[in-house]
Amino acid sequence: MHTLLFLLAATTAAAAASTKTLYATHYNGTVYTLSLNLDDKNPDHALSISSGKDTCGEMPSWLTVDRSTGVLYCSDESGNLTVPGSLTALSTASQGTVEEIAKVEDVGAGVNSAFYGGESGAAYLAVAH
Ligand SMILES: *[C@@H]1O[C@H](CO)[C@@H](O)[C@H](O)[C@H]1NC(C)=O
Ligand SMILES: *[C@@H]1O[C@H](CO)[C@@H](O)[C@H](O)[C@H]1NC(C)=O
Repeated sequence: MHTLLFLLAATTAAAAASTKTLYATHYNGTVYTLSLNLDDKNPDHALSISSGKDTCGEMPSWLTVDRSTGVLYCSDESGNLTVPGSLTALSTASQGTVEEIAKVEDVGAGVNSAFYGGESGAAYLAVAH
């Protein structure tokens, strides 16, 4: 089985300026929160796993962040043309972990996603599959 590791960087307001929080999906069903210390020049210590949460279906593949709310939208690549996959909304409000807000069925084999706007301020999320 091949693995996919997708990293999404975000600056955490409460953390020190030299520490960044990263979010990564793993095809084994885990969404990781990582801590990157930019001041630590030792690659064995600079990046560490803060937590791992089993969420986003069987194959978490992609994270898209809504910067205004800090919510991550996680695509689950399981499923196919006939079997649905899922889309999970994750809160990043808690330090060092993600919390599941909502989970819905969506197209199978969902991968990267992007926001786009509609009429009257409506907002949508397009999911490639
Ligand atoms: C997912 O893979 C990571 C890295 O190999 C491992 O540490 C973790 O325990 C795995 N999680 C599950 C739920 O299998
Ligand atoms: C979709 O996945 C199901 C379950 O693995 C499988 O039985 C089915 O043949 C797949 N359909 C397509 C179109 O690949």
